[in-house]
Amino acid sequence: MSTFSTTTKQSPSLLEKRLQINYLSSSNQPTNQDDGKDIITGLTQIQKRLPPRYFYDDKGSQLFEQICELPEYYPTRTEAWLLQEYASEIAKLTGACELVELGSGSSTKTRLLLDPYQQQGYPLRYVPIDVSGGILEESSRQLLIDYPTLEVQGQVGTYEQAMSQLNPTPLPRRMVSFLGSTLGNFTPQECDRFFSQITALLEEGDYFLLGIDLQKTKEVLEAAYNDAQGVTAEFNQNMLAHLNWRFRGNFELNSFIHKAIYNQSQTQIEMYLYSQKSQNVCLESLNLMIEFEAGEKILTEISRKFNVEQMQQYLQAQGLKSIQAWSDPKHWFALLLCQLHTS
Ligand code: AVJ
Repeated sequence: MSTFSTTTKQSPSLLEKRLQINYLSSSNQPTNQDDGKDIITGLTQIQKRLPPRYFYDDKGSQLFEQICELPEYYPTRTEAWLLQEYASEIAKLTGACELVELGSGSSTKTRLLLDPYQQQGYPLRYVPIDVSGGILEESSRQLLIDYPTLEVQGQVGTYEQAMSQLNPTPLPRRMVSFLGSTLGNFTPQECDRFFSQITALLEEGDYFLLGIDLQKTKEVLEAAYNDAQGVTAEFNQNMLAHLNWRFRGNFELNSFIHKAIYNQSQTQIEMYLYSQKSQNVCLESLNLMIEFEAGEKILTEISRKFNVEQMQQYLQAQGLKSIQAWSDPKHWFALLLCQLHTS
């Protein structure tokens, strides 16, 4: 149990003592050998593709925050509503635990989870994991100001790096949260790999909190990914800007047009950038030259839409037993709480 005295104001130096940020190896160094290999692999396939993690440089993370506010983009506000409604139930079910958040971004939803743990008198320990160091540091400092007993151990890097490098927790249990339906970005194979890492990280009795977007009409889905203000288009094109600075590339942003379609047989949104003309693009740091035909598309993201029962069965097969699931009245989004049971 923590025995902090609850001070209302703390000096910046005291605040620093509750903050630790680790920059995991190869997270933001274009010089690293491995970095960019996934780009070479993706761009040399017949259907060219780019890994969604390259959306999230600091600008991309800001654009994503803007997407979350769009009238058409329902997932964030629906999930926030679910957390608002049910986070205290979650805290009661799990008891004291270290909160590990994969893809923490601006940590807005984190507060909805921290609040009930604080109200129920549990020690607050938060481990945000994100590839965007700027946003992670900024949001961690703000959280430390707002939660005077909170300790933060941020990890800047990919999920894989972080999951293999986490320190043991001093708290009785850990809850790994993976919100915002980011799981939808993974192909089924990537999903399997991800869960084998998750279950390796968790100990018997630890919790996993998952937010998933659910299947719904093509109209609602396509509107959410082709917003009227064009923010999603900018977010998509920003990936090319990111690759330009990070790998000395010369993508011409305006010659690639954004479009998202809902693939009903795969129940997934597919987000593309269409080359408006025949052109060559170089990424000097990767020693890569790519040819595009006019109208050729790059797949930058899939966003799979799920079904609660199927997901629960899948999780069960991974050793993650469902504790409870919550959904909104329209059944557009769901939160699943599960617990690791080995054997
Ligand atoms: C962060 C992956 C959940 O798939 O809805 C939003 C990303 N892309 N608009 C999603 C995204 C375009 C988002 N995830």
